[in-house]
Amino acid sequence: MNLKPATLTQIDEVITHYPVKRSATLPLLHLIQEDIGYIPEEAITWIAQKLELQPINVYEVVTFYPMFRRKPIGRRHIKVCRTLSCALMGGYKTCEAFEKEFNTHRGEVSPDGEVTVDFVECLASCGTAPVVLIDDDLHEKVDAAKAKQISDQIKAEAAKRR
Ligand code: FES
Repeated sequence: MNLKPATLTQIDEVITHYPVKRSATLPLLHLIQEDIGYIPEEAITWIAQKLELQPINVYEVVTFYPMFRRKPIGRRHIKVCRTLSCALMGGYKTCEAFEKEFNTHRGEVSPDGEVTVDFVECLASCGTAPVVLIDDDLHEKVDAAKAKQISDQIKAEAAKRR
């Protein structure tokens, strides 16, 4: 597991915020998932050692919360909002457009390894629905046509890297 130096610094800092080390389990899992996109087995052991717990204690937290992923994601993470405003404005069609463009299904890595498409809850930009977050970039008013444009751009960038 290769964590970024910034993540390691944040982890050490976060642990100091809790009088009882085990209380840092949830924030550590979030930081690791933010960094590498999922929670591998070795992260569970690593956190357990770091917080002086048994791996089962960490494992229980990972399996309890559905937001933790146990499998790697694609190079880009496309998160389509499915909450009310976005759903009413066509968020489901937007999501289907991304799935079709990358020949994938929600929650899975596309066959080319480029993307994972997921539904997420409100991204706090309801006035510009439907909204899509791709890695750290927010895209507003993404209808199916705009989803195709964005997909073409992602594919073009991927082709340049090859
Ligand atoms: S409902 Fe989609 S951003 Fe709020």
